[in-house]
Amino acid sequence: MNRILLVLLGLTTVSAQAATPAYTKAQATQGAAVDKAQCALCHGSTLQNGGAPKLAGSAFLLKWGSNSLDDFHSIMSTTMPQTHPGALKPEQYINLVAYVLQQNGFKPGTTALKAANLKQYTFRK
Ligand code: HEC
Repeated sequence: MNRILLVLLGLTTVSAQAATPAYTKAQATQGAAVDKAQCALCHGSTLQNGGAPKLAGSAFLLKWGSNSLDDFHSIMSTTMPQTHPGALKPEQYINLVAYVLQQNGFKPGTTALKAANLKQYTFRK
C-alpha cells in the first residue's frame, strides 16, 4: 500500500473518533435521583428496566451511536417527561445525560458535562 493512502486512512480514523464524553460522578448521582423521581415510572431505575424504550444497553448504543449528545439532549429535554415535556430545569437534563452515560458504561471524571460541550460528544465507544 502506498504512503499517501496510509496517511489518508490514518486521517479518516482520527476524524471518525469523537471525544470521550466528560461528566462527573456527582452529576450522574444527581441524574439518577431525577430519573427515580421523573422517569423511572416508565424507563426504570436503571434506564433499561421499564416499559418505555431502554436508555441504556447495546440496542440503545446502536440506535444513538452516531448522534451527538446534543441531539439526544434536545429530544429528551423537549419531549420528556412524557406527561410534562420540557418541565425540568436545564441542570436536571444535563445530569440525566450524565446518568445515561454512566448506565452505558462511560467512566466519570473530574470535568463536568456542560450544555456547551454536548455537540462534541457521541455515545460511540
Ligand atoms: C409516562 C411515561 C414516561 C415518562 C415519565 C418518561 N418517558 Fe421517556 N419515553 C416514554 C415513551 C413511551 C417513549 C417512546 C415514545 C416517544 O418517543 O415518545 C419515550 C422515549 C424517550 C426517549 C427517546 C428514546 C429513544 O431511543 O427514542 C428518551 C431519551 C426519553 N424518553 C427520556 C426520558 C427521560 C430522561 C425521562 C424523565 C425526565 C422520561 N423519558 C420520562 C415514556 C416516558
